[in-house]
Amino acid sequence: MSTSAAARHAPGRVPGEGTAARARGLTKAYGAGETAVLALDSVDVDIARGRFTAVMGPSGSGKSTLMHCLAGLDTVSAGQVWLGDTEITGLRERELTRLRRDRIGFMFQSFNLIPTLTAAENITLPMDIAGRKPDQAWLDQVIDTLGLRGRLTHRPSQLSGGQQQRVACARALASRPELIFADEPTGNLDSRAGLEVLGFLRGAVDDLGQTVVMVTHDPGAAAHSDLVLFLADGRIVDELARPTAERVLERMKRFDGARGTGAARED
Ligand SMILES: Nc1ncnc2c1ncn2[C@@H]1O[C@H](COP(=O)(O)OP(=O)(O)O)[C@@H](O)[C@H]1O
Ligand SMILES: [Mg+2]
Repeated sequence: MSTSAAARHAPGRVPGEGTAARARGLTKAYGAGETAVLALDSVDVDIARGRFTAVMGPSGSGKSTLMHCLAGLDTVSAGQVWLGDTEITGLRERELTRLRRDRIGFMFQSFNLIPTLTAAENITLPMDIAGRKPDQAWLDQVIDTLGLRGRLTHRPSQLSGGQQQRVACARALASRPELIFADEPTGNLDSRAGLEVLGFLRGAVDDLGQTVVMVTHDPGAAAHSDLVLFLADGRIVDELARPTAERVLERMKRFDGARGTGAARED
């Protein structure tokens, strides 16, 4: 595929809307020589601004690597990544750190909260470290939307899994980032707590105008998104707009079948 064709037809592209993040020819190899692993194989993708994008694919297909490279948390082996209009591949570490801090929120599967700090302290920790004062009105809105008002003085051990993930969600949102990445944010939660977090991410997009990219294994979780990108062996092999759990499941089965017969689909 030529570069110009890729520019026009990258998965995730929604004509007429801005692009929050973009990659062209994004390639990531771990290790070298015989033992090298190609985690991402020349991925072209556009993440539409103000939309909720889900990323699915088998374990080891490159989902986390894609998130980390788009978020500037990991270096790339080849290709280019932009956040908004800024190309981040090639930025110096200091510039990248600042840009990540100002524009990106990241939610990990394991909530990564500091056990000795209260919920409120955990939420503002990244901003405290950066020496930035939170926008109190925004912070209040995030805390109330996430239903954390009555839990602010609790430590993580005094909170349920769902509450802890909501604190992690509030932390990702506290600096009002343009773009939120969530790597299996419901993976460690029971279904009710998972629904709370999904409802919030959906609300962050619909009510607060954020852009969300979420990795999930769960067709039901993916159904909360606007668009599902399917990864296999480090490539985006398909996408599904306005997903329902049934259609996602159907698509996943099709890939399992294709993988079984060795017939890889080229997009
Ligand atoms: N730090 C690393 N060192 C070596 N190989 C890695 C590293 N991180 C990921 N990989 C490999 O890259 C591939 C993609 O991994 P990952 O992005 O974590 O997949 P997923 O999130 O879809 O499960 C896998 O084969 C994985 O083993
Ligand atoms: Mg992963």
